[in-house]
Amino acid sequence: MTGRLVGIHLARFASSSPRIGGLFRGVSTAGSNSIFSKQLKSSPSEVPSSRYMNLPLISLTKSYSSAQTTNAVFAPPSSLGVQTEGASKGHCDAVSDVRLDDGGKQLIMSWEGGQSQTFPYVWLRDNCRCSKCFHPVALARLTMAHDLDVDVTVASADKSPEGDDVIIHWDDGHESQFPSDWLAAYRFVDSQRDQILNPKYKLWGADIDLQSFEFGELLEDDRALHDWLAELVIRGIAVVKNTPSEVGQLHRLGGRVAFLRSCNYGPTFQVKSKVDPSNAAYTSGPLALHTDLAYYIRQPGIQMLHCIEQAECTGGENLFSDGFKVALDLKEVDPEAFRLLTTVQFEFFDVGTDHYGKFHQYSRHPTIELDELKEIASITISDHSRDPMLRVPPDQVQPVYRALSKYCKMLVEPQNLLKYKMEKGDITTFNNRRALHGRSAFQVTKASGRHLEGSYLEWDEVNSRLRVLAAELQSK
Ligand SMILES: [Fe+2]
Ligand SMILES: [Zn+2]
Repeated sequence: MTGRLVGIHLARFASSSPRIGGLFRGVSTAGSNSIFSKQLKSSPSEVPSSRYMNLPLISLTKSYSSAQTTNAVFAPPSSLGVQTEGASKGHCDAVSDVRLDDGGKQLIMSWEGGQSQTFPYVWLRDNCRCSKCFHPVALARLTMAHDLDVDVTVASADKSPEGDDVIIHWDDGHESQFPSDWLAAYRFVDSQRDQILNPKYKLWGADIDLQSFEFGELLEDDRALHDWLAELVIRGIAVVKNTPSEVGQLHRLGGRVAFLRSCNYGPTFQVKSKVDPSNAAYTSGPLALHTDLAYYIRQPGIQMLHCIEQAECTGGENLFSDGFKVALDLKEVDPEAFRLLTTVQFEFFDVGTDHYGKFHQYSRHPTIELDELKEIASITISDHSRDPMLRVPPDQVQPVYRALSKYCKMLVEPQNLLKYKMEKGDITTFNNRRALHGRSAFQVTKASGRHLEGSYLEWDEVNSRLRVLAAELQSK
């Protein structure tokens, strides 16, 4: 997809404009780095990494066996599961000691390895997983915050005879029981980051070892599906090969995840261009790197572009650049430019008529969006749809433009720019808010038609499917 070009211009110029869409081919070579992972927390220093670093999803859910609850109520935070390194199935250290700090209204729990963690009473009471406090089937909290006694006190607390649970008797007679691994997963200090929401990204450049997956396997094999989605999370780009050459395949692939994300242009969009046989010198200009649908508040997470028919031409490679990697490079060489691009919002618009009738989209985003931990979360660049509105003092305008231009130049430096020319049957899939995409100029050499179908997925659905697949695959 070519963003707003495919968006607006696809709709407006379909089958007439040579400027739309790209022609892809080729394979990249090896290489990746892990600069981004340096932003992430290392394993907690005060707890054994073997126990907590890659908290096994299944061992937690199976480690608790009380008639009081179902296993599922102690489902842990998400994990990439089978993708994680060194996950230790079933490993469980025993509780050595449980102490009460009534002054601080907190429970101090020690493990046999000598480590200890602190859990406030009010949090433990709020998260009691007994069937009165937490519905064992709906997996929903039954106690309400407005009823919570924030000054709740504990009568007694102890470890279970086996040492793998903590049992709390509250002053009001209520009883709670928590698996020690579950408490470890939810510890307050140096708790493990969610491995899907905060993955260890692998950054890449022109020499990326671009991963490919077979369309047929993705439809049939859960392991392949998991690995493709994990690749989208971690590197943000992958190619699906040998897809049938007909419309509708993105619905099939998207259906393996959940559902496609629609937009003004419909659930999928078609990019068709017929080449005039009398115009063999037919050329099309380059398409600048961009992210799609910048004018949406909720921009699509993942883009898929299926090459149904390819034209014979020279040039026309699809271009990709890792926006996260280059943003970190920019932070290194020009911190002020990085600061400007993370704080100043550009505004974007799209107006027209398409699949659902008339539309007028308008939104604003910083070029480089940071999360609550000041780590890079997403990129938004779209020269095609960037609005004139720039809500900064006039004397900041030139520095802002300088920063944007510098970042865009760095994105296309040879070491950063991946060139990939799609073949018939390919679906390029990529993180729309990380892997910026564009197209080099091309010249058609033989009369032929070109047909691409594109669509989007949302991260919510991809992440959800990944968690489900990780649990199922790990249990096999
Ligand atoms: Fe695009
Ligand atoms: Zn309870």
